Amino acid sequence: MSKPTGSALMEKIVALCKRRGFVYPASDIYGGINGFWDYGPLGTQLKNNLRDQWWRDMVECPPIGPDGSPLQIVGVDSAIIQNPRAWEASGHVGGFNDPMVDCRESKRRYRADHLMVYMHDGEKPFFAFLEGEEASVAKKLQKAGLSSEQCRVTSMVDVDASHYERIVGPDTKATGTLTAPRQFNLMFKTFVGATGGEDDVAYLRPETAQGIFLNYKNVVDTSRVQIPFGIAQIGKAFRNEVTPRNFIFRTREFEQMEMEFFCPPEEAAKWFNFWSQVRLDWWKAQGLSEDSLILRRHTQDELAHYAKEGEGTYDVEFRYPFSGEGYGELEGIAHRSNFDLSRHQEFSKTKLEYFNPETRARFVPHVIEPAAGLTRGVLALLCDAYDIDPSRPSPELMRFKPHLAPIKLGIFPLTKKNGLPDIAEKLFMELRGKYMCQYDIKQSIGKRYARMDEAGTPFCVTIDHTTLEDQTVTLRHRDTGAQDRIALDQVGTFLGDALA
Ligand code: GAP
Repeated sequence: MSKPTGSALMEKIVALCKRRGFVYPASDIYGGINGFWDYGPLGTQLKNNLRDQWWRDMVECPPIGPDGSPLQIVGVDSAIIQNPRAWEASGHVGGFNDPMVDCRESKRRYRADHLMVYMHDGEKPFFAFLEGEEASVAKKLQKAGLSSEQCRVTSMVDVDASHYERIVGPDTKATGTLTAPRQFNLMFKTFVGATGGEDDVAYLRPETAQGIFLNYKNVVDTSRVQIPFGIAQIGKAFRNEVTPRNFIFRTREFEQMEMEFFCPPEEAAKWFNFWSQVRLDWWKAQGLSEDSLILRRHTQDELAHYAKEGEGTYDVEFRYPFSGEGYGELEGIAHRSNFDLSRHQEFSKTKLEYFNPETRARFVPHVIEPAAGLTRGVLALLCDAYDIDPSRPSPELMRFKPHLAPIKLGIFPLTKKNGLPDIAEKLFMELRGKYMCQYDIKQSIGKRYARMDEAGTPFCVTIDHTTLEDQTVTLRHRDTGAQDRIALDQVGTFLGDALA
């Protein structure tokens, strides 16, 4: 069994995630709900570990700045529902749109910018396919007596309206079933209060960032931060995505880890470069392999409304199994200029200037924003960690870095006899408060190792008959399968060192 690639690999990962309790479809017993996922015992632990590491490296122990001193970053936890005026100011009510196309026949909906059309100069139909699924169009072209060399590929957004009738959609055989692209707002609407009229409309936040801007003045007034400084937040965000897809890559409910770094306008370019590099390095430190990560600068037409004023956006991109030869976004580092604070100042009529007591200067700070997806980060970890080793009892294993692994140590008595379970239980009771350990006595030792491999547990110790003679245990290393012996009373120290 060799390691598959592309969609076959994704299928394996999704199946393992469900089977082992990392990620389940939301409302599974009702047939699921498109774009929503639940995290099981292992997935929740993995997500919390990634979240806590980010919080530690951003807020509790922020990076050292270019001048050698530690940066100042504080945390907030803002409400998901805010005054709807905030979303008008931020540009989300008016401008947070994706163009969508419906298929009248298949009833499927596509994002127009993800729909690519094979166009040519002849009389035959044009064929549309979803970006990343080029393979599916080859057969259709062949049947119609066309070759891809005869065609140019254009996004549906750029196709002239006069051509729509000639297009065959990705899931149909007939032409003319696709509608023209229409703008679709991604904000989830809800109602606040009992009457539920139009005046009570509110929105679920589509990004955690605005909760930070709304608290900028409170934080400056009530804590001792001085520019440059950052405010960080982790939490849920909601987007009514037109086409949620690729497992937990693009979902309608997800979690973000965002930090707004406020600085004087003239320092923004320096911090933009600084944060882009720091964030790329951070993902490498979480175990994502060097050659699956890149830093890419957005082209002008990709920029979000808030980044147009600044110098743009860098993306940290990861090579997901469904990205083919390419990469997909993991985190964006945006130069937001003073766009958000200026807009909130204008809409709320509250001064959001910063006064620098040293230089006596007054200005609206500029903002550099590293915005990462927590749930998308979990997907990158799952994809990178998944491996196949045919020589093991269960060939599938997850190679998480120890500090992120949901379970750090498996503790097994070899048999139920000779007091071995008592020794194992004692070790478990000693370590359980410090590290996530799992005591397991069921089935053969090979099966227990296999269970831990699939959960991504980096180490297991087995209490065996030699333990009774010399107080040592078998220590098994997940990554190599190698086993050595270690003193029973050194297991905690070993684990502490391995996780440091
Ligand atoms: N405050 C800026 C902002 O929200 P974004 O690029 O739209 O920027 C930041 O989102 C990160 O949030 C993305 O890089 C991605 O990791 C994650 N993200 C965005 N939309 C998502 C979705 N529908 N599902 C899962 N993660 C998403």
